[in-house]
Amino acid sequence: MDVLQLIRQKRAGQELTEEQISWLVKAAVEGTVPQYQLSALLMALCYEHLTYSETRALTMAFVASGERLRWPPSVGTIVDKHSTGGVGDKTSLLLAPWLAAAGLSVPKMSGRGLGHTGGTIDKLESIPGFQVNLGRADMDRLLTEVGCAVVAQSTTMVPADKLFYQLRNDTDTVNEDGLIAASVMGKKLAAGAHYIVLDVKCGSGAFFKDIERARNFAQIAVRLGHDFGRRVACVITNMDQPLGTAVGNTLEVKEVLDLLEGRSQQPDLIELCVTLGAVLLVLTEGATNVEAGREIMLEQLEYGMVLERFKNWVAAQGGDLEAFRRDLGRLDGYRKVEVRAVRRGYVAAMQVEALGELLRSMGAGRYVEGDVIYPLTGLLAQKKVGSEFAEGEVLATLYARPDDPRSDQELGMALMRCYSFSESPVQRPELIHEIVGLEDYLQIAWQQGTARLGPPA
Ligand code: URA
Repeated sequence: MDVLQLIRQKRAGQELTEEQISWLVKAAVEGTVPQYQLSALLMALCYEHLTYSETRALTMAFVASGERLRWPPSVGTIVDKHSTGGVGDKTSLLLAPWLAAAGLSVPKMSGRGLGHTGGTIDKLESIPGFQVNLGRADMDRLLTEVGCAVVAQSTTMVPADKLFYQLRNDTDTVNEDGLIAASVMGKKLAAGAHYIVLDVKCGSGAFFKDIERARNFAQIAVRLGHDFGRRVACVITNMDQPLGTAVGNTLEVKEVLDLLEGRSQQPDLIELCVTLGAVLLVLTEGATNVEAGREIMLEQLEYGMVLERFKNWVAAQGGDLEAFRRDLGRLDGYRKVEVRAVRRGYVAAMQVEALGELLRSMGAGRYVEGDVIYPLTGLLAQKKVGSEFAEGEVLATLYARPDDPRSDQELGMALMRCYSFSESPVQRPELIHEIVGLEDYLQIAWQQGTARLGPPA
């Protein structure tokens, strides 16, 4: 087979076959296709788009490129959650122990920051001692003892995605629905969970800027799930503003801890976790419908079960929360840039991708592998879309590295370019747009009489 033929074929708008895609991915991993030819093909795929058959073939080839995990029944009902990437998205930190408290098992492989979006692994590494590289035996032990484990992607799983992703990043060919679906689902299928919920972000801070694209992606992901014998549902959620208040690695972990210990309320973060958890409970037949699933999730939070599970989990992965709390003292000495309102008004919109980029430029994220992360760097978005503010009120606070070459004024102005304001009231965006792919399972549960309340035994 010849890669030039594949490029010509796709450029002319003709579908690639499963055999061609399988050959291509194998050759790419073996290093026998030059990266410039792969790049040309990726660009042709972006222009002509992937058909569903091509997406399916690419997903299959990605999974086949590396190790596939299998979980014994003794570790419980294995579930997984993935987000397509957002800003201030600390959901996994809260949801993993929360699902464990609700009786599910969560062996989660997470990523580092990608582009303007943050990564769970970078956030967890801001907790002193937290180990993100665990072997299989340790993961099994954590699942049995705590019910969840969150680790960095292993190099032996889906190596083809790693290679393609890097190249897509370097050639600006990331944002194509079929390529994103194969990348996300390839990783989820290889990680072995039978029940998967995807948080499909939609808005100015997401890859999918509008609901049609988010819906298209969700339908592809659900169909891939069916084809590979997994139960997959997607929750399309708003990313026109950061989730919660904090953005940045240490600040986001602090926000989760503050929420669990009752020092702060983050209604949007709770709502997202409750919905994602409820969807997983329906998929696993631990709840008859989303409302019943929500009740189970909320009960765990109210009775303090999530806090207890969070502490046990962090300790089991070597994290020292007392040292983390001591480290927070360093925030007081960090450079703080408060931006205040010059007149009364409302926040009309936030350019969340630009906000993520600003924080990346300040060291909260990285441009290339190996860039140093500054965990304390971040933002508190005290006012979000729809918030009213008075003259002189703090709109947002940046935490900047003392050696950031920009002045406070420059940083503050860069931050304000990510906001727009209005003199009249502005509606707050709805967080949950829609759930895709759950109808089938609700029907299955009712028809077979298998639906039951409460977490799976
Ligand atoms: N997240 C992924 O894992 N892959 C993509 O292509 C985009 C978001």
